[in-house]
Amino acid sequence: MAGFSKASVRDAEVGGRTVLVRADLNVPLHDGEVGDDTRIRAALPTIELLRERGARIVLCSHLGRPKGRDESLSMAPVAKRLGELLGAAVKLAPDVVGPEVEAEAASLADGEVLLLENTRWEEGEKKNDPDLARGLAALADVYVNDAFGAAHRAHASTAGVAADLPSYAGLLLERELNELGAVLEDPKRPLVVVVGGAKVSDKIEVIDRFLEIADTLLIGGAMCFSFFRAQGIATGDSLVEEGEGVELAARALETAKSSGCELVLPTDLVLGAEFSPETEPVDLDGVEVPDGMMGLDIGPRSAERYAEAIESAGTVFWNGPMGAFELAPFAAGTRRVAEAMAATEATTVVGGGDSGAALAQFGLADEVDWLSTGGGASLELIEGKKLPGVEALDDAEDTQTKTTDNAEGNAG
Ligand code: 3PG
Repeated sequence: MAGFSKASVRDAEVGGRTVLVRADLNVPLHDGEVGDDTRIRAALPTIELLRERGARIVLCSHLGRPKGRDESLSMAPVAKRLGELLGAAVKLAPDVVGPEVEAEAASLADGEVLLLENTRWEEGEKKNDPDLARGLAALADVYVNDAFGAAHRAHASTAGVAADLPSYAGLLLERELNELGAVLEDPKRPLVVVVGGAKVSDKIEVIDRFLEIADTLLIGGAMCFSFFRAQGIATGDSLVEEGEGVELAARALETAKSSGCELVLPTDLVLGAEFSPETEPVDLDGVEVPDGMMGLDIGPRSAERYAEAIESAGTVFWNGPMGAFELAPFAAGTRRVAEAMAATEATTVVGGGDSGAALAQFGLADEVDWLSTGGGASLELIEGKKLPGVEALDDAEDTQTKTTDNAEGNAG
């Protein structure tokens, strides 16, 4: 059975102690307000558990990709929305670290929450600077990493700080690792994987991994044109990832021949003259795209075939849209996949990013078993890469165990 066994926040002694929680509260902002609060909601279980247990919570996250202190990327809108969702005041610290922040952290009462400013305002964050990590550690007694969406980043607040405090995994981080890990290690068969999006090069490691372990791999999105080009099929004006993408597609097609996994490409398409919602959609019964036209969605026959595979699967993993779903005339293929994901009895797991946005657009985000909060992080996990945020918890656990052993040894 797949499982994640890091020291858990469930087992941490936190009553009356100050806990630094790293969450991924990197949410879209619209007109100075939180545009989509999914990630804030996903962070609530850990925060609520800690409040129930009387912890004093110092919460932190990055927001966007600021270069230095950029007030347009202040955590203020996040503090406001989090306060509304928690039904409790969330104080916003004036900075990320430093004496003023330390004073605010020290004055927290049990159950209170202080949100630090955007960790990326500090130059040391992305460099995993030990001084910044120590500055963060100085604010608390215990560290909890719940930022799955940022676990593929080796930053001071996601990795470095774990060396300086007793460290635990948060509930969301645990759940993400268990849900995604189960797809890889213990899937109910058949395991059907749907991969879409524009570029083969972005997804090749995911494709390679699933060619080893999945039963069926359904390809959609513009990346299918790199596969068609590799097969010598005309692609018209469709988006083809010339060079590397076509070579990688050719290699994947070759690998598929000797793999136990069936690689399936669309057999019909929806074309348009240009990438625009005004473009007239034209059904193509086949995949030879004429010049002057581009493929913008998989066709209805392919969508039906993909839906049937999803509906008869034991486990389905989906990452990447089937077409230009943001343009209404070309959303049908992605919608059909999303509806099949919602309807199937199979265990359904969706990587974050565009497939999550598609599910949300169709009102189906709550209809899958697990929708990951991490786009890049979930892909890297599937690719088999080590996530620095998770590794840091492993290392911290080793140190904690050694420290406890030594203390027990010394006491004896
Ligand atoms: C994300 O949105 O995928 C995470 O918050 C990570 O953000 P980053 O790509 O800016 O590191």
